[in-house]
Amino acid sequence: MEANFSYKKALAAHLGAEMGQLSLFWKGRIGLYGLLRSLDLKAEDEVIIPAFTCVVVANAIIYLGGQPVYVDIDPLTYNMDPEKVADRITARTRLIIAQNTFGLSSDIDALRDIAQQHDLGLIEDCTHGYGGYYRGQPNGTLTQAAFFSSQWNKTFSTGIGGIVYCRDEALAARMAAFEADLPAPGFGASTMLAAQLFVRRYLLSPALYWPLVRLYRWLSARNIITGSSGGQELEAPVMPPGYLQACARVQARAGLQALSRLPENLQNRQDSAAIYDRLMVELGRSPLFVPDYAHHTYIQYPLLVKDRDRFVALATQHRIPLNDWMNSPIHPVQTNWERWNYTAGSCPEAERVSRHIVNLPTAGGAMEAEKVAAFVRQYADELYDAP
Ligand SMILES: Cc1ncc(COP(=O)(O)O)c(C=O)c1O
Repeated sequence: MEANFSYKKALAAHLGAEMGQLSLFWKGRIGLYGLLRSLDLKAEDEVIIPAFTCVVVANAIIYLGGQPVYVDIDPLTYNMDPEKVADRITARTRLIIAQNTFGLSSDIDALRDIAQQHDLGLIEDCTHGYGGYYRGQPNGTLTQAAFFSSQWNKTFSTGIGGIVYCRDEALAARMAAFEADLPAPGFGASTMLAAQLFVRRYLLSPALYWPLVRLYRWLSARNIITGSSGGQELEAPVMPPGYLQACARVQARAGLQALSRLPENLQNRQDSAAIYDRLMVELGRSPLFVPDYAHHTYIQYPLLVKDRDRFVALATQHRIPLNDWMNSPIHPVQTNWERWNYTAGSCPEAERVSRHIVNLPTAGGAMEAEKVAAFVRQYADELYDAP
C-alpha cells in the first residue's frame, strides 16, 4: 500500500489538498457511487446532470435508487446550461453534478447560486478537468466534493482509475470508510491492466491506433480485458458483479509516473488546441469558446461534422486518431435511453451535438495536431454548420 500512500500524497500536494481529503478507486465511477452514498442519496432522490455525459454517471445514481434528471447543454461550452437548470428542479431534487466537459469547467458561480437558492448539494464531475482552473482555483476543489478519472484519455492516465476530493472532514471520513471497505482488484485484473499500460506506452502508434481501439472496445464489451465499461453497464442500469473495487498498486505506481509528466502533457494539449483554434479561424469558423472564468485542459478538441461515420472512415484511412466522445446524451448508449430516465427529444441541443461530434486528439502535441489539422483542412467541406 506504500505506492497508494505516495500517490495520494502527490495528488494532495498537486491539488493543494490534505491527504485525508482524498480517496482512491479502481475507476472514477466507483468514487462517484461512494460519494453519492456518503451524501446519503436516498431512493427517489433526483440528481441533476448534463444530457451530455457518460452513462456510468447515470448508472451510479440509479444503483442507489436515485433518478438522474438531465439538463440540456449550451452548445458553445458543451456543459449544462445553467439557465435550464431551474426548470428541472422538483421537491425531490437533492444534488447538481457540474461536469467539466472536455476540460472546461462549468459555470460554478451560476450553479452554486441555484444550488443555494434551492438548498441543493453541488459536486463536480471532474473526470475531464484535472489540471484546469475556474477563476484561478483548481477544477475539482470548487464545490463540496468532486470525482476525477485517470482513465486512458484523461489529462493523466493510470489506464483506469478514480479519485475523490471532499472539502469537509465529515464527508472525507465517510469516503475513507467506503474506500477502506472495498476489495482490492484481483491478481488477474491488476496484471491485465499492467499489460495494457505497457501496450499503450510502448506499442501504440498512429498506424495501430484504430485497430487497437476497435480491439479494445470489442474485448472490453465482452469483459475479456480490463475495459473502461463492461458490456453490462451499457445495457441496463443494474450494478454488475465486481463493480466496487479499490485502487490497485499498479494504478498508484502508474499515477505517480503520470503526475510527473503532467506539465508536459498539459502543455501538449494547449499547443494542440492553439493549432486547432488557428485552423478554425483559417476556415472562417469560430475557435473553441473558452469563457473568461476558465482555464481549459483541452483533453479533447470537439468538432462538429456533417456525417460522423463518413468522417471517421476518412480519418481511419488517413490514420488520424479521432475520438467520438459524447456520441449520445448518455455516451455511448444509442438505444433504450428510457432505462436511464432519459426521454428522447428532451434535450435537443445535446442530441444534435452528439449526432455530429468528433474529437480531435490533443495528447500528442503540436506535431500530431499539425497532421490532424492538415486532414481537417483537406476535408473542410465535411464540417457541420449549426442551423
Ligand atoms: C463525463 C464523465 N463522467 C464520468 C466518467 C467515468 O469515469 P471512469 O471511467 O473513471 O469511471 C467518464 C468516463 O470517462 C466521463 O467521461
